[in-house]
Amino acid sequence: MRTNILLDAKAGRFAIGAFNVNTYDEMIAIADEAEKRQLPVIMMASMSSAKFFGIPTFAKLCRVLDEAYSIPVISHLDHCTRPELLLDCVEAGFDSVMYDGSHGLYEDNVQVTRRLADVCHKKGVFIEAELGVIAGEEGPVKSKFSEFTNPDYVADFVKRTTLDSLAVSIGNAHGFYKGKPEIQFDLLAEIRANIPDTALVLHGGTGIPGEDIRRSIRMGITKVNVGTEIRAAYMRGVKDYVAVHPQDGDVREYVVSLREAIGKSAAKYMDCFDCRGDQK
Ligand code: 13P
Repeated sequence: MRTNILLDAKAGRFAIGAFNVNTYDEMIAIADEAEKRQLPVIMMASMSSAKFFGIPTFAKLCRVLDEAYSIPVISHLDHCTRPELLLDCVEAGFDSVMYDGSHGLYEDNVQVTRRLADVCHKKGVFIEAELGVIAGEEGPVKSKFSEFTNPDYVADFVKRTTLDSLAVSIGNAHGFYKGKPEIQFDLLAEIRANIPDTALVLHGGTGIPGEDIRRSIRMGITKVNVGTEIRAAYMRGVKDYVAVHPQDGDVREYVVSLREAIGKSAAKYMDCFDCRGDQK
């Protein structure tokens, strides 16, 4: 299973960047930067972007990129709250999916995740789930407040769900942060100690300072999700080009402009993902 890559990352003190995408141009810009650094990369579709691309189309696009680039390009469904849609993605050939039952009752989250994990594992698909609530908005999942992951529950959750990776709420949030994010490193250490063999995922990557991302990777985070900054970079690239060419313009130059803006944003995060040379 190519997604075992997450466990390799855990053993090797690096993280895989997972980027929310809505267009082919974002995928190309991100894959180009990942290839320059020889880092595997995850292309994430939210429920709505999976439908926007077309579910089989997204799976196939990722497979084509995986063949075209020298690094692994992995397809992932992000924050899925609808089991039927998740199963459609599994059927269509996604490499990895996330079931997000974090807003409901603990026991329901366990039961549904477990049922989906059984299907995923039969098909060789990786499954991520979430415990605790991450503040902010990501697709259909919205919360004004965070509820930190309770470290006393993680071992039970991992064991009973058989998930492959766990998204944690440790002070991270979706969207732009209002102030400096306060990542709870002590809590991360406690979670890590309770589930030392599980890949951990940090959502809400946009705006977390590079040093905090690196520190969390050294402490066991193996996947970092970035979405808002990629969407903002896309729009910046569009506006910059149109500002210079309000009346004329060339389609390819326009695409180059937005790909460059996205590439720069993605690169800023990717440069934090490889901590193999770090002393601490
Ligand atoms: P940001 O949009 O805050 O980067 O978060 C993305 C994310 O966590 C997707 O699951």
